[in-house]
Amino acid sequence: MLTYDMEKRGRLPRYEYLCRCIQADILAGRLKSGSPLPSKRALAEHLALSVATVENAYAQLVSEGYVLSRPRSGYYVCAAEELPAPPVPPASSAPSALPRSAAEEREGEKRERAWKYDFASNRIDPRYFPFSVWSRLMREVLSYGGEELLRPSPFNGEEALRRAVSDYLLRNRGIAAPPDRIVVGAGTEYLYALLVQLLGRERIYAVEDPAYRKIAQVYRASGARVAPVRLDGQGVRPDLLEKTQATVLHVSPSHHYPTGIVTGFTRRSELLAWAVRRQGYVVEDDYDSEFRLSGKPVQPMQMLDTAGRVVYVNTFSRTLAPSMRISYMVLPEQLMRLFREKLGFYACAVPVFEQLTLAKFIEDGHFERHLGRMRNIYRKKRDEAVRLFAESGYPLEITEEDAGLHFLVRLQTDLPDEEVRRLAAERGVHLAFLSDFMAESDGASHCIVVNYSGL
Ligand SMILES: Cc1ncc(COP(=O)(O)O)c(C=O)c1O
Repeated sequence: MLTYDMEKRGRLPRYEYLCRCIQADILAGRLKSGSPLPSKRALAEHLALSVATVENAYAQLVSEGYVLSRPRSGYYVCAAEELPAPPVPPASSAPSALPRSAAEEREGEKRERAWKYDFASNRIDPRYFPFSVWSRLMREVLSYGGEELLRPSPFNGEEALRRAVSDYLLRNRGIAAPPDRIVVGAGTEYLYALLVQLLGRERIYAVEDPAYRKIAQVYRASGARVAPVRLDGQGVRPDLLEKTQATVLHVSPSHHYPTGIVTGFTRRSELLAWAVRRQGYVVEDDYDSEFRLSGKPVQPMQMLDTAGRVVYVNTFSRTLAPSMRISYMVLPEQLMRLFREKLGFYACAVPVFEQLTLAKFIEDGHFERHLGRMRNIYRKKRDEAVRLFAESGYPLEITEEDAGLHFLVRLQTDLPDEEVRRLAAERGVHLAFLSDFMAESDGASHCIVVNYSGL
């Protein structure tokens, strides 16, 4: 019987550690090709694990191509010539490339160099993606989906996914969003472009300044004009917004990226009143709101909207993986009608297989469990990253560490941001600055945006 010391798993989940042990035995030839693996129940008893843990480990081995599952027979090691290449060691054990020239620096950023600390990349931690559950659900969808899988999706996405999102939004964000007012899209940037087609490119789109750069880029690339509006401690400044000719405002009131600002009730009401007066719309981008790590979750602005002026947008890029390219928006009733008339000819851009797998993932409770687990993991990472900066000995101030998967570090320095970036890069540290997110900047924000989730 296979025997492994589960105490040695460190921070790895049990199923993953078991999967890696079996994989190592297969690659080393200790488990011969074609030989059967013990039954799930027998191995679970032998290692004092739950059957579900062994099942997840086996499912992972099947999905990675090390093991074959034969219905009503069991699990078998794949033939040697069919085995995948051994996994590449993690980046942390690869030699780090230090130091580099400024020109190489920029090139390197593009090629994703092996940074010692990468605080600039806004990523998830890939070690915790629920691969085994995902592959099991995908297999279930493929096995039982039948003809439905081969039919084109409705323009606004699979009913099953819209239903699952609708239930999730009600449970977690208090949003009443009937499935027929939800539109599924291939990432929020895809939805921003659809919104311009829906609302019209002749409108001016006000965006927060600073903000996630792609928002303005997509609006401009879609032919619309953009008006960046500076923020104060509450979010977009209404006096500056009033001075623009904008009729659409794109905001993240529950959690602004990258400043972490939360817009309070009074300011939200002012912005909504502005939208009603201008007969315009507010696009509420709720990115990252799931990862408020302390305090109560902030309610979405959409809940205050009685006039049908708020479009709610969110994505699975942060909560699952940016490679998923699945997002959704909730449209007010009259906009949904317009969408159907004007843009209902489009095919939904997300493959049906992925939509149905995600629907099951949410329905079966995996999504909320994953969020809970990731909140704990990210909280620990944040504490560690805050400690690193606080104990660095440099004069600095740390703010917004409770909002989303980043915080801000204000440096007491006269050096331009570019110079600090260069000095840090020489030491293998990748930094992003608040000035990188501003429409216009003198490059002297002296404020680092510390993304810690992918560390
Ligand atoms: C405000 C905001 N919205 C959306 C996204 C990304 O969404 P997607 O990957 O679905 O395009 C980001 C990524 O940083 C963001 O900052």
